Formats: sequence, C-alpha cells, structure tokens
Amino acid sequence: MDKNLGEIRAELKKYNQEHLLNGYDKLDDNKKQILLQQIENIDFELVNFLYESTKKVNETKQDEITPMEYLDKSKLYDDYKYYENIGKKAIEEGKLAAVTMAGGQGTRLGHDGPKGTYDIGLDSHKSLFELLSDGLKEEGKKYEVTIPWFIMTSRENHKQTVEFFEKHRFFGYQKDKNIFFFNQGELPMMDTEGKILIGEDGLIKLASDGHGGIYEALVKNKMVDKMKELGIEWVFIGGVDNCLVKMVDPVLMGIAIDKGVTVACKSVVKANPKEKVGVFCKRNGKPNVIEYTEITDEMAELKDEDGELMYGESHILCNLFNVSAIERMGETPLPYHVAYKKASYIDQDGNLIVPDSPNAYKFEAFLFDAFGEVDDMAVLRVKREEEFAPVKNADSAGVDCPRTARNLYKKYHNLD
Ligand code: UTP
Repeated sequence: MDKNLGEIRAELKKYNQEHLLNGYDKLDDNKKQILLQQIENIDFELVNFLYESTKKVNETKQDEITPMEYLDKSKLYDDYKYYENIGKKAIEEGKLAAVTMAGGQGTRLGHDGPKGTYDIGLDSHKSLFELLSDGLKEEGKKYEVTIPWFIMTSRENHKQTVEFFEKHRFFGYQKDKNIFFFNQGELPMMDTEGKILIGEDGLIKLASDGHGGIYEALVKNKMVDKMKELGIEWVFIGGVDNCLVKMVDPVLMGIAIDKGVTVACKSVVKANPKEKVGVFCKRNGKPNVIEYTEITDEMAELKDEDGELMYGESHILCNLFNVSAIERMGETPLPYHVAYKKASYIDQDGNLIVPDSPNAYKFEAFLFDAFGEVDDMAVLRVKREEEFAPVKNADSAGVDCPRTARNLYKKYHNLD
C-alpha cells in the first residue's frame, strides 16, 4: 500500500466518494487491506468521466457510415484452396492460438455457474467448454499440433471455472503449458448520483469491464508474452457461448495473411434487415460495427446490385487477430458503454439494499470498438448453420437458447 488511511480519506473527499470508508472500521484486517487496495486501484478521474457519460446517452453521432467489403466463403471458388493452403501452413507451423472469452455474467441464460459449464442438453451432456475443447482438439489433430488455449475469466467466476477444468482434467490440455487462465479487468458500479457502490461483503462493488476488456487483459496478464514465447502469431478470439464456433479456420487465416491485414472476422448474413444484431461497416473510413440501435431502417434495407444487404454482415464474435494488433489494441483505451442494472449494495447507514428494479450503472467496453485501430481488415461471410449456434437466453425466449443451439449442433454433427 502506498498511501496511509489519512491520504486515502483526503483522496476520497476530493472525488466525493468518502462513503466508501463508512464501514471500514467494522471490517476484519484482511478485508480492510483489500478495500484500501481497491480504492488505490480506482481511477477516480475515469469514474467521474464515466458518470458524466451516463448523462449523454442521447447525444447524436455525426459519424460517416459506409459499407464494409466482405468475401463469401461459399463463393471463393479457386481462391478457396489458395487461401486454405496459406492458412494450413501457418497452423502446421504452430502459429495459431485460441482465446475463449468466458468472463461474462450470463444473466440472460440464468445458469448457476460459469456459462461454459452449461450442459446444452445433448445426449453426451457435454458442457459448452467441452464442446469447444472437442473442436480445438479435433482440428489440432488434423494439423498435428496442439492449439494453445487461453481462457478469460472474471473475478466472480475464475475459481469455479478453473475447478471445473480440473475436474475434467483440462479436457486433455496441460495447465500453464498449453492451456492458460487469466482474469479480465473490472470497473466499479455506481448509483445514479455517481456514488460508487459497496457490496454485501463490505468491499467495492466491481463488475467485469465487458468483452472489450480482452485486449488489455491479454497484455496486462502477460498472455501476449506467453503467446510470443510459444511462437504464436495469430489468435482466434471468440465467445464461450457459440457451440458451433470454428476456432481453427485455415481459410480465414490464409485470407488475413495473403491480404496483409492484422484482423480478419467472420460474419453471417442477417436473417432479415430488422434482425437485432450489430453489422460490420466502416465508420469514418475505419473498420467498425454499427449496432441495431444505431442503424436507420433505410440503411438496414439497402441492397447492392447483386441484391445483397449492404449492411448485412452480422458480427458474431469470431475474430482472428495478429498478435501485433492485440498489443496495439491493449494499449488503446476503448469507450465504455453504460448499462443500467439491478445491484444490491450497502447503503450509507450500513443497511443491505436489494433492489427489485435497476438502480446502478455498469460500464462495459465492446471488443469491436477496437477495430478502428487498424486501417483495414478482412470480413469472411460463413454459413450460420455451420458456425453460429449461440446460447444467450433461457429456452422460454425461443431464440439463441439451449434448444435452438442444441438443434443446430445436432444437425451439423448429424446426431439425429
Ligand atoms: P454477452 O455479451 O452475450 O454477455 O457475451 P454474457 O455475459 O455472456 O451474457 P448476459 O448479457 O449477461 O446475458 C458474449 C461473450 O463475451 C464474454 C461472454 O462470456 C461471452 O462469451 N464476455 C462478456 C466476457 O468475457 N466478459 C464480459 O465482461 C462480457
């Protein structure tokens, strides 16, 4: 600890956050240390900035949005083999690693435990983690390599995640040799007055900083150094909840290498112009994703001369990065998006408050906000039924839920 209690109190006063020490005297010594450390780690200028940003949600943006070019995997014809051979060579040379982002809270699914431990109801009862590991191992066999696997967890689910892997003997992987776990960053939650919340445990209420935290987490936790040690040049980064994710794709990799881009992403075509998904675009000339809340109906309907939607390539969190791009993105602060959530907390008088409606701001960075850091990237359209079966919601929602994912998985793997 660099500062004494008096200095910390003065710092808190400056930022109008003195309440954070209200319950300090009642904490045990260990928690006292943790709380002080938490306070020292908070960037209060950033907290102020984030709070101010909650008041500007309706600001209209003046960005210039234009369509992004893409390739269709099913229409590459002779180029398919050409790209595939380039990618295959790099995979065989051990240049590819996979990263699974498993730090989300999975609130919509409502599973009691990390989302990756969820059993989607196949006869095998395999968890999402196991389905992902099956895919990686199968591909690794083809190229006679072990694809190193990096798993991002949150503080909340780290222990449970690692224990789950231990229980399953890391699905054949070896911890710290070819499978690595690391924690993502966190930001304090705050109330509508901008006051940082104290949780039930008497400590600051922190929440994961969104999947955009991946770059900084890879750099800060020295995972990028590890990748370099292993001779990795390309990293596939995907979510934990797509049970058809294809993390090893020589065609995607070949395209990135051949075109000399440091980022290559997969897309699936929008189911219809109104589908609530973000789509690839160029924003002020740089690669980006435009969210469904942002795109006008007119833009969403626009078609090119081939009858294809001009803004129809959905971002499905299946992205390949050169290590150099990750390093660059890890050093660039991303904008934070605000979400209004329910969060229990200890009030100024020491009472536990459990709200029944949203009461607190949570801040999240989005992975695609970093795309603008590169001048160009490749987008490859793949088939939804082959590569995209997300588990987002409970079955009652009827879409992107265990039932739909299970059916897609079974169909693709001929399990019926
Ligand atoms: P989602 O945005 O679907 O969020 O994450 P989620 O946490 O899984 O579910 P909800 O919104 O609470 O219902 C997409 C992917 O990004 C990861 C998730 O684990 C998932 O693989 N993610 C999300 C993180 O790793 N960290 C985060 O802070 C947020």
